[in-house]
Amino acid sequence: MGKTITVAIDGPAGAGKSTMARRLAERLGFVYIDTGAMYRAIALSARRLGIGWDDAARLEKLAREARIELPGGGRVLLDGEDISLEIRDPEISEGASRVSAIPGVRRALVEKQQQMGREASVVMEGRDIGTVVFPDAEVKIYLDATPEERTRRRLKDLAARGVQAGFAQVLSEIQRRDERDSTRADSPLRQAPDAIYVDSTSMNEDEVEEALLKIVRARTSNGKEVTS
Ligand code: DC
Repeated sequence: MGKTITVAIDGPAGAGKSTMARRLAERLGFVYIDTGAMYRAIALSARRLGIGWDDAARLEKLAREARIELPGGGRVLLDGEDISLEIRDPEISEGASRVSAIPGVRRALVEKQQQMGREASVVMEGRDIGTVVFPDAEVKIYLDATPEERTRRRLKDLAARGVQAGFAQVLSEIQRRDERDSTRADSPLRQAPDAIYVDSTSMNEDEVEEALLKIVRARTSNGKEVTS
């Protein structure tokens, strides 16, 4: 197998990581990996089985045994079942943030993510990709936007799925999740020292895509790593 390239995109909830990672992967011909969807799959499975979001031993077992597939087109399969829509439920967003603070769950999912990155060139997005999952990634981007702008984007996403929610409620959910994701002891959300910071607050999607593509192209050439 030839050398694979890893593009790591980290940042807080609602910064546009999923949209941008998917678009970049399409442009580059890489595989898109949404690691948040993997934590969401574990949270959904726990809820269905009546496992508490702080039951570390059972959650770790669940994460080790879960067969999570990301076959493309934003689809997420858990043990063969399509759970793409169910994992976007606000309760599962909160649950994913809770279960992702458990070290055993992280260890299990990080191993799966590292395996995926070894098999193909990937654009992988999450909270700890550039810091923990692939500290040697060829390209690291930290994508950010103000909490208010991230709330507006999240409301648009929810509306597109037919879910009505209030601004204040979504803003406070985002802030609570940011706080938990960036203060947990294990692999908190943090910008890697060698990641490039992109503030997308006043950029549209096409502008962000071009900015990210420029960063990737500066670091890689024709699918190969630039070494000089
Ligand atoms: O990106 P997202 O909103 O789908 O992620 C859901 C939760 O999963 C998020 O609140 C934090 C957690 N997460 C994580 O801890 N590490 C990752 N690499 C990705 C997500």
